[in-house]
Amino acid sequence: MWSPIIGLLLLLLPLAPSSASYIKYPLEGNVYPTGRFVVRMNIGEPLQPYDLDIDTGSNVTWLECQHPVYGSHGSPGVKRFYKPGPANLRVYCKDPFCASLRADLPGRRPRCPRKDPHECHYKIEYVDMTTEGVLVNDTISLSEGRNEVIVFGCGYDQRLKNPSPTQPPAADGLLGLGMGKVGFVAQLKAHGVITKDVIGHCLGGSRKRGGYLFIGDYDKLPSTGMTWAPLKKYGLHYSPGQATLHLDGQQIYANGMNVVFDSGATYTYVPTQIYKPLVAKLKAILGNALDPVRHHALPNCWMRRGTVEPFDDVNRPSGILTLRFDNNIVMTLLPKNYLIPVENNIACLGILNGSDVGQNHRIIIGDATMQDMLVVYDNEQGRIGWASEQCTGSATTSRL
Ligand SMILES: *[C@@H]1O[C@H](CO)[C@@H](O)[C@H](O)[C@H]1NC(C)=O
Ligand SMILES: *[C@@H]1O[C@H](CO)[C@@H](O)[C@H](O)[C@H]1NC(C)=O
Ligand SMILES: *[C@@H]1O[C@H](CO)[C@@H](O)[C@H](O)[C@H]1NC(C)=O
Repeated sequence: MWSPIIGLLLLLLPLAPSSASYIKYPLEGNVYPTGRFVVRMNIGEPLQPYDLDIDTGSNVTWLECQHPVYGSHGSPGVKRFYKPGPANLRVYCKDPFCASLRADLPGRRPRCPRKDPHECHYKIEYVDMTTEGVLVNDTISLSEGRNEVIVFGCGYDQRLKNPSPTQPPAADGLLGLGMGKVGFVAQLKAHGVITKDVIGHCLGGSRKRGGYLFIGDYDKLPSTGMTWAPLKKYGLHYSPGQATLHLDGQQIYANGMNVVFDSGATYTYVPTQIYKPLVAKLKAILGNALDPVRHHALPNCWMRRGTVEPFDDVNRPSGILTLRFDNNIVMTLLPKNYLIPVENNIACLGILNGSDVGQNHRIIIGDATMQDMLVVYDNEQGRIGWASEQCTGSATTSRL
């Protein structure tokens, strides 16, 4: 009676779940003074390390680049430029990648120029800068011993909209984690490196540095404590939809606003209709524990009285912000999600006036607010999730 049992076992084996495929990278950085979180990637032949700003608000990955013909106008403070060779520059305008990149760009889709059919030119405008470049094709090392050729941008002209002398030096480029076929994660999925287009980041809070980023089918999501909302594409960004904002239960502004999650933004931005009453109410609440001071870092700062952490009293919680989405989905923000320590006893408000940067109609949740939180962008199931977590870095791990 052995053989039928063995036959049954052999039939069952292929049905056992396959192990998850994902890559987890350590992040370096902080909200203040660096203003960004970067992941180190080895790119090119021979491989060179580049620190890329992780940006869920951008579809395209690009490097600060020295182009053989167009030269380079880099962002301030860039130390390392990528230098493509002739073979890397052969991503043609009629290439499907170029077509989908251009389809993703807002505004009128430019035609392929007759003069330069052999290059894919793009220009992208972000909240605080513009970048201009051409697509290239080169090797990227994903984890130990695993290299892939992917398409990304050679950004040869970056311009800041409001350059400031206290600007920290720029990263070596940007890791585009937004949606779209040209996205880093979408390409890895198309190459069969990972099976799922899922991204997650955990940005370390102010007393730590770093955190981690994962891409793919990460099998260590907390089984409880994640809040999930349906992913609503809002223009170019990941969004859980519209929400109203409340401070200690009190609604700040009558109308709901679209909320987008953008790891490329250092701070959180709310339109002036929300900003003005929010700052007034926060000043009243924080004034009970902190003294207002002026500091060059940000517009609204306070100094701690004494040595006690003023907001750690769990019995009398105050200064709690909540974003309330449809279907009773709530995002809770503690003072550590909006107060940024800039010196020993001084913390500043990490929420800024969006109207100052042309953002009048939406709330942008930036790094300041996503600290010590695991945020997951699940493009497979069309959902976005978050959970409170102590974020610390670790070595690159991969299960592929
Ligand atoms: C990129 O390079 C690889 C390997 O040389 C090649 O197979 C692929 O077609 C190229 N992709 C594009 C979009 O040029
Ligand atoms: C990113 O790609 C998506 C899907 O193709 C598109 O809707 C969106 O406009 C693109 N965003 C940017 C910034 O190009
Ligand atoms: C927010 O920015 C807008 C545009 O610059 C400005 O008109 C408004 O006064 C600002 N609001 C506050 C409260 O600073």
